[in-house]
Amino acid sequence: FTDPKGCPVSSDAEAFDPFAASYQADPAEVLRWSRDDEPVFFSPKLGYWVVTRYEDVKAVFRDNRVFSPANALEKITPFSSEADAILKQHNYGMARTLVNEDEPAHLERRRALMFSFSPEELLHHEPMVRRLTREYVDRFVNKGSADLVNEMLWEIPLTVALHFLGVPEEDMGKLREYSIAHTVNTWGRPTPDQQLKVADSVGKFWNYAGKVLEKMREDPSGNGWMEYAIRRQKELPEVITDSYLHSMMMAGIVAAHETTAHATANALRLLLEDKMTWDRICQDASLIPQAVEECLRHSGSIVAWRRVALEDTEVGGVSIPKGGKLLIVNSSANHDERYFEDPDSIDIFRDNASEHLSFGYGSHQCLGKNLARMEMCIFLEELTKRLPHMQLVPDQDFKYLPNIAFRGPENLFVEWDVSLNPEKTNP
Ligand code: HEM
Repeated sequence: FTDPKGCPVSSDAEAFDPFAASYQADPAEVLRWSRDDEPVFFSPKLGYWVVTRYEDVKAVFRDNRVFSPANALEKITPFSSEADAILKQHNYGMARTLVNEDEPAHLERRRALMFSFSPEELLHHEPMVRRLTREYVDRFVNKGSADLVNEMLWEIPLTVALHFLGVPEEDMGKLREYSIAHTVNTWGRPTPDQQLKVADSVGKFWNYAGKVLEKMREDPSGNGWMEYAIRRQKELPEVITDSYLHSMMMAGIVAAHETTAHATANALRLLLEDKMTWDRICQDASLIPQAVEECLRHSGSIVAWRRVALEDTEVGGVSIPKGGKLLIVNSSANHDERYFEDPDSIDIFRDNASEHLSFGYGSHQCLGKNLARMEMCIFLEELTKRLPHMQLVPDQDFKYLPNIAFRGPENLFVEWDVSLNPEKTNP
């Protein structure tokens, strides 16, 4: 194998497969060889240049003039013509949204739409997240066991996402199917048969988003981000177009929901596996924000993101041709010992934890990061208070949806002795 410049590809680079179970289980570990010996390599299986060290990943995120995010939501696995035809039947027309848009359009839109993410605006959502978390914990606290993903962590971030956007909550079941389909459609490796089903769900998701938007237009007076965007459209019709709003509705649900659900499941798994740290945050809730940050560093929910080079350039001393596609593996960067001391261990007192790249970096850095942090802190506050004695069910097999971007276990089984519930001993 050779790379696009005709140079031979090493055997490790040739073998790299981001859909393999081992990579899903621990992407940073699987790429250790690369961080050590070949920090920028061409993957012939993917057709991407893979970047794995902290400074290089950050440099690519930082330079949005040379490294465009235009391919961030491109299908990593091209569809068959039959699957494409299904998308066409649904009039699927996802256009650029903030995350994959070049300047100057991106910054203009980001500025026009930032208001809903201000700290004051985010505060409005806090009581709802607290109430929902308590209600969900109430449902299982006296049961002695739960699958935290299916009984809490999937639905609450979805409800919060819908609330944040201003979308009614009645279609939650359908949205679960749709968002998984969107992940597989964009970042997965579906078989030709699966592609037909995925295309149908993605097409339905698109039409659902359109219908919700139409309805919202009748009365866009609410506090949701989409309602705000509809009102802004009246002032800035060229910046916030109809096609943009439709795409934003669909992309917004995905951006706000699965990311946060997976990040919390990853964090809880990590903390429950590290009993000393778990006990510490149970005893002192003021440590929770820094525990959340360290968990985001160690096990974020977006393990890699994409860019495309707009000119001949260089990353970490390796030349990348114009048009070269890059897979920038932020989960590997977050475990780079050149930047983080003893990166594989959890240290909630680590002084540079917040410099992780789990939310990206630079002009496209995640707009929703503080909403996600707030949700994660509340989940941990409530669980450490009400179920400090909870433990992971031993020897469970954590399963991940094979894809190059989103990572979180499909289930997280925990158990506890109900007679030791603090509310029984100290109601
Ligand atoms: C962009 C991660 C939660 C909205 C991004 C990017 C990443 C990311 C990696 C791309 C950054 C880049 O290209 O530099 C995450 C993670 C989350 C999370 C790990 C949860 C733990 C959320 C939430 C929302 C949200 C809750 C919305 C309420 C967005 C938006 C962008 C974005 C709008 C595009 C920003 C732009 O391009 O200007 N996120 N995200 N995210 N995220 Fe998040």
